Formats: sequence, C-alpha cells, structure tokens
Amino acid sequence: MSFPIAVLVSGEGSNLQAILDTVHGRDGIEVVCVASSRAGARGLERARDAGVPAEAFEIGAYPGRDERDAALADWLEGHGVRLIVLAGFMELLGSPFIQCFEGRIVNVHPSLLPAFPGVGAIEQALAHGVKLIGVTVHFVDEGVDSGPIVLQEPVAVESGDTVETLHARIKGAEHRLLPEACRLFLAGRLRVPPEGRRVTVL
Ligand code: GRF
Repeated sequence: MSFPIAVLVSGEGSNLQAILDTVHGRDGIEVVCVASSRAGARGLERARDAGVPAEAFEIGAYPGRDERDAALADWLEGHGVRLIVLAGFMELLGSPFIQCFEGRIVNVHPSLLPAFPGVGAIEQALAHGVKLIGVTVHFVDEGVDSGPIVLQEPVAVESGDTVETLHARIKGAEHRLLPEACRLFLAGRLRVPPEGRRVTVL
C-alpha cells in the first residue's frame, strides 16, 4: 500500500522536517509534494534537499485566492495525495478547497484549542497569563482552527518565558504529535462520527 501525503508550509518548515525524518519512507507513507504560500520559505529548501517536489503558490501570482486555491488543488490532485498536512501554513484556504479534500486535511496549532485560535496564539496566551498552553492537531473544516480535534498535548508556561522560548518548547511537542497524527490517519485509525465532533483513535 502506498500513502502519498502533501505538506503545506509558509516558513521555517521544522514540522515538515519532523515528518520527513520520522514518517516519510516508512510503512508506505511518502511525502510526494510540498507547497508553500511564500516562495522564500525555508520549508521549500528542506523539501528539495529531501528530493521531494516543492513549489510556491503565492496569492500575488494569481488574480485572487480562489484562483490560487484552485491551482494548488489541481497540483495536489495531480500528485494523488491521500492526506494534506498544514504544517505552519499561515493562510486561509477557501471553502471549495476544503470541500474538495474534506476529511483529508489536518493542521497543527500552537495552543490547546478551542483556546486561542487564529494567528498570534502564543502572544495571546502569554498576555492572558495562562499556566498551560500546548499543541493541537485537528481536522480542517471551513472555520478558523475549528475542526474536530485529533491529538492534544499540554505544554507548561514557565515564568520568564518569552514568545521565542515558549514557541521552541511547543515546537518540540508539535514535532511528535503531527507525525503521530499522520501515522494514525494513514493506518485508518481515526474515526470522526457523522454526528458529533469527538475523534476516536482506534
Ligand atoms: C508552528 O508552531 C505551527 O503550530 C504554527 O506555525 C509554526 C510553524 O513552524 N502554525 P514550522 O514552520 O513548522 O517550523
């Protein structure tokens, strides 16, 4: 069995690297393509270094987001992907894209959702003075970080933490949870009931 996956990035690509290092090429799972919303993203270099086709889909290169999303969807379909992993992809994808790949897109977010959705989660959590933040991997629906939750792990906020020190520890957890969610999905071990939101891990 082969399980082609795509990873979408916008920047550094450390989560992509974790997937390449721990999931790619094992149990039939192959990262077959990497797309970025920014041409200069380090994640594109990481993909090419691993021999994975990588391409930028910048909104500015298209009449608008709908056209960009359509081009991206065609490219992903051309690669026959079973799962799309948003790994630090910092742009919203429109409804037609989400519907096209419904139930086959996961995202990693640096908080314990539903707390602090959207951009600036770590900044908001520090400003709020929370003692715990964390990581959520969730299915993507048409809302902002609102889809059914697959995996979560708390990360303690320490006194003196800055956005940078806290984000570094959060990323440590992300680099375990996101590859694990890919493995579970591709092993057919995730069930989302038609009614309700709670994802069961079989
Ligand atoms: C991650 O912390 C992710 O949760 C957030 O953006 C960051 C991406 O990091 N959405 P990287 O590009 O994978 O290093």
